[in-house]
Amino acid sequence: MKRKIRFGFVGTGRISDWVLKGAFLDPRFKLEAVCSRSKERADAFAARYGVKKTFTDIKEMASCPTVDAIYIGTPNATHKDLAIKAMNCGKAVLCEKPMASNAAEVREMTAAAKANGVLLMEAMISTLNPNFKEAVRFIDEIAPIRHWSSAFCQYSARYEKLLAGEVTNVFNPAMAGGAIMDIGVYTIYPMVRLFGKPESLTASMRTIPLPDGSLTDVSGSIQFSYPGMHASVIYSKTDDSFLPTEIAGEKGNILLDQIHITRKAEYIPHAAPASGRGLPPERQDITCSMDGDEYQCEFREFIDLLTYGKKESAINTLQTSLTVMEIIDEARRQNGITYPADKL
Ligand SMILES: NC(=O)c1ccc[n+]([C@@H]2O[C@H](COP(=O)([O-])OP(=O)(O)OC[C@H]3O[C@@H](n4cnc5c(N)ncnc54)[C@H](OP(=O)(O)O)[C@@H]3O)[C@@H](O)[C@H]2O)c1
Repeated sequence: MKRKIRFGFVGTGRISDWVLKGAFLDPRFKLEAVCSRSKERADAFAARYGVKKTFTDIKEMASCPTVDAIYIGTPNATHKDLAIKAMNCGKAVLCEKPMASNAAEVREMTAAAKANGVLLMEAMISTLNPNFKEAVRFIDEIAPIRHWSSAFCQYSARYEKLLAGEVTNVFNPAMAGGAIMDIGVYTIYPMVRLFGKPESLTASMRTIPLPDGSLTDVSGSIQFSYPGMHASVIYSKTDDSFLPTEIAGEKGNILLDQIHITRKAEYIPHAAPASGRGLPPERQDITCSMDGDEYQCEFREFIDLLTYGKKESAINTLQTSLTVMEIIDEARRQNGITYPADKL
């Protein structure tokens, strides 16, 4: 077995617990240190995992010689500063989605990764899921592609809090929060991974005014134009949707049951030119074994890259992170959603 990669985790919220469950499935993963804004929370989190090293300063944790890589599981607006501090200490960074508050911050992070010669990857699970990877293998079978359509709508307890007057981080502009950043990103990122930057987009968001006079977005839909194809996405934190994601081509279709964590993938070859009521199309199940969970897939990719001295994922590329952020910036601009980070 190759040597273990020793991780320092920043943030002691539920996402850190979720990803650890998957990360520990990789025998090369070791949780070495924990960093929190509070010493007590760092100690309590670390104790649950039998970890001794705790910090309240990212620079101190990233300077620790037994830490190889940093995972950032804190609110969006904090990603850039934490990541750059860690990279300036020479450490590889796995940063939660979305990569940053806006495209300008992604450019700064990318520049820091290149200047320090370290690995930086956005922790976007959708594109690293084996079912998504399998679907990508079928793209040529159904080409030319004419439509991407994706939905991620999940009723959120934090929406109820918002209606009751409590602005949690997920909806807080100061934390670069909002529905497009929290879950819309899952419908956009895989689209960009497959088709690159769209020529144009029209975004419609439902927004809610906050007590300080700013706006937050709770749901939305976006229409994209690409050469020879269209794309449409919907996302929401105010209602559920069970619509699959569909890639439609002239020679067939691919269906993914849910885009954030795809558990079932189907390939539907186009049988014959439609002529009224033909036979129902034949669906081929192309689902793969997950071999662990979605976070294990993410850590497998990141640890593989580190092990082989790579500075960037060929799947979750820095260009994809940048293009996604440019799309979200434009969607926010069209709907009057701004963050304090936009003005820095
Ligand atoms: N990949 C996924 O499946 C997934 C799922 C959910 C969320 N996420 C992403 O994970 C990140 C965290 O989301 P979340 O909902 O877990 O956020 P959260 O609960 O608001 O915060 C997570 C942790 O970050 C630290 N934190 C909170 N506010 C902070 C601040 N103002 N400055 C610095 N640190 C702060 C806290 O840890 P300490 O108190 O220890 O400092 C907190 O427990 C976001 O980028 C989100 O998009 C990813």
